[in-house]
Amino acid sequence: MATIITVSLLIISLSFFSISSAKISGQPGINYGQLGNNLPPPKTSINLIKSLKAKRVKIYDTNPLILKSLENTNLQVSIMVPNELVSKISTNQTLSDQWVQSNVAPFYHKTLIRYLLVGNELISSTSPDTWHHIVPAMQRIKTSLTTFRLHKVKVGTPCALDVLESSFPPSNGTFRNDIAFRVMKPMLKFLSKTKSFFFLDVYPFFAWSSDPKNIDLNYALFESKTITVTDSGTGLVYHNLFDQMVDAVYFAMNRIGYPDIRIFIAETGWPNGGNLDQIGANIHNAATYNRNFVKKVTKKPTVGTPARPGWSLPSFIFALYNENLKPGLGTERHFGLLYPNGSGIYEIDLSGKTPESEFPALPPAEDYKGKAWCVVAEGANVSLVAAALSYACSQGNGTCDPIQRGQLCFEPNSVVGHANYAFSSYWAQFRSIGGTCNFNGLAEATSKDPSYGSCKFPSVIL
Ligand SMILES: *[C@@H]1O[C@H](CO)[C@@H](O)[C@H](O)[C@H]1NC(C)=O
Ligand SMILES: *[C@@H]1O[C@H](CO)[C@@H](O)[C@H](O)[C@H]1NC(C)=O
Ligand SMILES: *[C@@H]1O[C@H](CO)[C@@H](O)[C@H](O)[C@H]1NC(C)=O
Ligand SMILES: *[C@@H]1O[C@H](CO)[C@@H](O)[C@H](O)[C@H]1NC(C)=O
Ligand SMILES: *[C@@H]1O[C@H](CO)[C@@H](O)[C@H](O)[C@H]1NC(C)=O
Repeated sequence: MATIITVSLLIISLSFFSISSAKISGQPGINYGQLGNNLPPPKTSINLIKSLKAKRVKIYDTNPLILKSLENTNLQVSIMVPNELVSKISTNQTLSDQWVQSNVAPFYHKTLIRYLLVGNELISSTSPDTWHHIVPAMQRIKTSLTTFRLHKVKVGTPCALDVLESSFPPSNGTFRNDIAFRVMKPMLKFLSKTKSFFFLDVYPFFAWSSDPKNIDLNYALFESKTITVTDSGTGLVYHNLFDQMVDAVYFAMNRIGYPDIRIFIAETGWPNGGNLDQIGANIHNAATYNRNFVKKVTKKPTVGTPARPGWSLPSFIFALYNENLKPGLGTERHFGLLYPNGSGIYEIDLSGKTPESEFPALPPAEDYKGKAWCVVAEGANVSLVAAALSYACSQGNGTCDPIQRGQLCFEPNSVVGHANYAFSSYWAQFRSIGGTCNFNGLAEATSKDPSYGSCKFPSVIL
């Protein structure tokens, strides 16, 4: 008996060693988000993921049907502790053990669960009193994994770029003052000790679209032949925005004493569509970004980034499907590689083995140009629209005069009809000083003129 135990311990420690020292594959995985009411079932989805030649798959929960469907596949799997449980788990080892026992252990031997993410973008999406629970929760989860001998699972937590206070030039990368020493330093200590990764969500699209006048689109799409950015602090030369963003995090980690932690791209991608007034979000750019990203991370020898040349960048592209129930601007619902019916929005091969020339030509990258109006979004909650209507009418000069009783746009007298007018009028008046057509997602831009009879709606020119 004693001998058997020793032997199996030896095997465990040997396999642990080979995993932590093996070079991790650069072939990307895919984020399998499920915020849609029209998505194919897990089995079909897993087959689609295989046909895209993904190396791994990341889910935002521990959906047992999905974990079952992933049995006996070669796909490495990343699962997630829901945000709501993180604080409770951080103070309760029993709860942590129970969670691991029921959500990880039953699947681990047939499904290649390799990453366990504790919450999702917690620093961006929860209040400060949750933040100090993050690392203790990660530690408890790690302890539970050890208890159940689930040794191949790395524990991490995805962060967005808003953990940085400054990111330009990359060598100026610094964690925010409010989290650098209370949250990030203990986290990096944990990641270092457990040989895990810093999981990072990186979206050059959002950085570019917040400043399209000063950032070249081709630089954001990995397409720039001529534009480079030189970091004045280090002399390092950047050829794309993605490397710049990632290196800012390496420099921030280095600044507080952790130069060796590897980054794992938990999400990256580019939207294939969006609202009429969201520029750069189209199939052409999405295909270009994601194909170039695949080319970069699958290249041999491994490229890395200017600050970490030769380091492989394991990743998950966002996302498998366009997800129609995601809140926010239109781009949020258009990050998929696939339509909900499973057909490809554009061709892509995540193994990086299909040469660019074998893909069919892409549709041109055109942003809408012309008149636009701002109207109530499909399915918007009418009582919230009523509140947004009074807000819009309380702004500016005469924004809502034509929808007053007796005026040209009063009839038909409905909340939605009046809001369509008020939103358009508000947008026309305030767009030049930063006013948007959004109203917390209740409004969206349209190229279809809602004017009728002698009621003329104000418009903007995109
Ligand atoms: C810890 O979690 C267990 C299992 O959910 C629960 O029974 C127990 O009451 C919790 N302890 C505390 C102090 O909340
Ligand atoms: C570096 O970051 C600081 C904030 O941490 C900022 O004030 C400064 O302007 C940045 N330096 C450069 C060259 O942008
Ligand atoms: C799938 O959906 C897309 C977008 O709605 C559509 O263009 C395409 O024709 C559909 N494909 C199939 C096979 O139904
Ligand atoms: C609309 O929003 C109000 C206020 O938030 C909420 O109470 C109500 O349940 C919502 N109605 C629907 C149909 O979602
Ligand atoms: C409203 O009109 C007045 C007078 O024409 C002008 O001074 C003021 O800036 C306007 N306010 C807005 C919010 O447009």
